Amino acid sequence: MATYQAHETAIIDPGCSIGDDTRIWHFSHIMTGCTIGQQCNIGQNVVISPQVVLGNRVKVQNNVSVYTGVICEDDVFLGPSCVFTNVANPRSAVSRKEQYQQTYVGRGATIGANATIICGHKIGEYALIGAGAVVTKDIQPYALVVGNPSRQIGWVSEYGHRLEFDKEGFAVCPESGQHYRLTGKGVVRIQ
Ligand SMILES: CC(C)(COP(=O)(O)OP(=O)(O)OC[C@H]1O[C@@H](n2cnc3c(N)ncnc32)[C@H](O)[C@@H]1OP(=O)(O)O)[C@@H](O)C(=O)NCCC(=O)NCCS
Repeated sequence: MATYQAHETAIIDPGCSIGDDTRIWHFSHIMTGCTIGQQCNIGQNVVISPQVVLGNRVKVQNNVSVYTGVICEDDVFLGPSCVFTNVANPRSAVSRKEQYQQTYVGRGATIGANATIICGHKIGEYALIGAGAVVTKDIQPYALVVGNPSRQIGWVSEYGHRLEFDKEGFAVCPESGQHYRLTGKGVVRIQ
């Protein structure tokens, strides 16, 4: 017996799986066939479209629509009013329901307020997408990106701090003390 909580104004369609200790706030709509993990927080006026998969501890801030084709791993943060898409070339008179493109958001990644994610891309784990960015390409793990079209301006730790790499390519997160290495392939956490 699941122990999630939903405000009385929330609508949860049949066929959803919602994990323990997840909270769903005012006027939100969870559509059929969704899988939502444990300890998630689904804010106000959120729509989770059919078949969407959210991992554990995902936070969805107010006014976000998570469309079919989106997958969010554990610990993803979706900032207020950020926007997903699932059709690259929509036309009202042409049905593209069978052609939804996927958007994959890796573990621990953050999407800033009002950012827009063009479908068909992968946002790497712990990447941080700045407020208002428009993402048009795949984003590397731990990348910090801003702007329209978004451009990478640095790297961030799992705690969301800028990583300043020394000449040997090592950096330490000032909050967690975790160590990172920058190679030609990108950033990895080493301890
Ligand atoms: C992207 C972000 C993490 C950068 O923070 P930061 O590392 O402290 O960066 P700074 O403020 O030092 O800015 C560095 C540069 O990037 C620019 N910049 C910062 N955020 C930007 C953004 N969202 N879009 C475009 N440019 C941005 C700054 O203007 C600055 O440019 P400059 O070097 O030409 O002066 C932060 O600005 C941001 O957008 N956070 C998301 C907040 C959010 O949406 N929260 C949601 C929950 S409330």
